[in-house]
Amino acid sequence: MNKKILILPGDYIGTEIMAEAVKVLELLKAEGEKIEWSFGHLGGAAYDAEGHPYPPSTQKAACEADAILMGAVGGPKYDSLPRAVRPEQGILGIRKDLGLFANLRPALAYEELAAASSFKPEVIAGLDILILRELTGDIYFGQPRGRRSNAEGAEEGYDTMHYSRPEVERIAHVAFQAAQKRNKRLCSVDKENVLETSRLWREVVIEVGKQYPDVALSHMYVDNAAMQLVKNPKQFDVIVTGNIFGDILSDEASMLAGSIGMLPSASLDVNNKGLYEPIHGSAPDIAGQGKANPLATILSVGMMFRYTFNRADLADRIDAAVKQVLRQGKRTGDIAQPGERIIGTKEMGDAVVAALKK
Ligand code: NAI
Ligand code: MG
Repeated sequence: MNKKILILPGDYIGTEIMAEAVKVLELLKAEGEKIEWSFGHLGGAAYDAEGHPYPPSTQKAACEADAILMGAVGGPKYDSLPRAVRPEQGILGIRKDLGLFANLRPALAYEELAAASSFKPEVIAGLDILILRELTGDIYFGQPRGRRSNAEGAEEGYDTMHYSRPEVERIAHVAFQAAQKRNKRLCSVDKENVLETSRLWREVVIEVGKQYPDVALSHMYVDNAAMQLVKNPKQFDVIVTGNIFGDILSDEASMLAGSIGMLPSASLDVNNKGLYEPIHGSAPDIAGQGKANPLATILSVGMMFRYTFNRADLADRIDAAVKQVLRQGKRTGDIAQPGERIIGTKEMGDAVVAALKK
């Protein structure tokens, strides 16, 4: 049976970069891979078409799909909408609806792009780390939250950080299994010296780790991890952490790779069904000009084959094709150095397809 992929291009450059990812799917289908895809709306595009950023038609298609590819949503056209129908509600809605609790963000430093990085070459050369962020718990979703007046009568805002044992267990399993497929080192990041949630987090990670004796487990406080990531990022292999620490550390790590246009991500549920998307946004400043870098989206297709379809062979081929076009000197504006020839979104997509052909 064909694997079903739901494609949600989204807004602004979303449609441009997704068109290039589709070229990759077309090539693989022509080679005989059993995949099929359909298109749906999310975010502003969904609001325009159906009056809601995550309409029932998308919800139904998302539930029926084996995997979802997303571009990016949002942009100035939608900034004045009421909060409930803002494009971001589309992403939050689909993540929550599908139980996508495990967010995987690889950060890779391509040696071909070393000159574009703000880091010294020796710090990032050969860097290949994976940050795993818990995505559906923590202070972002904890209740109670709100406003109240304190004992002195001053207004205060408050949020609640919490993690349950099962929530930590399931992300820990994903982390150990990811480490098993890589260099077998896992660093769990918390703030165990201060926070009770972190004490539970660490306890559970250690317990789960007993089932993975081949993975070397270490622990680090989040403030130190933020420092170590820029001091010596290559000491890490897989990092696992909670929602808010992961939000910050993964953005920090993205800069190690040079451009936001290069970084894919996956968000997985308990069965490894996933939503795959570039980590960047809809880039309204360059939309409609054919300039956007489609590589993060194409690499997201690779992650889909790796994590949801268990086809590391195809994922490796896509990763290798991207490296090859970089070696050939193909550069969109975001990864070009002064004086380098700049190509457009379509030309970059075509170059990857050419490199992919056997
Ligand atoms: P952004 O990531 O869209 O853009 C930041 C900068 O990076 C811009 O200068 C942009 O031109 C550049 N850039 C981003 N992707 C690129 C690519 N593929 N190739 C070349 N250059 C690229 O972030 P920004 O400007 O903060 O947000 C724009 C909109 O995107 C907002 O409405 C925001 O809410 C939304 N957004 C959506 C996300 C998603 O759908 N997951 C994630 C982040 C932002
Ligand atoms: Mg962020």
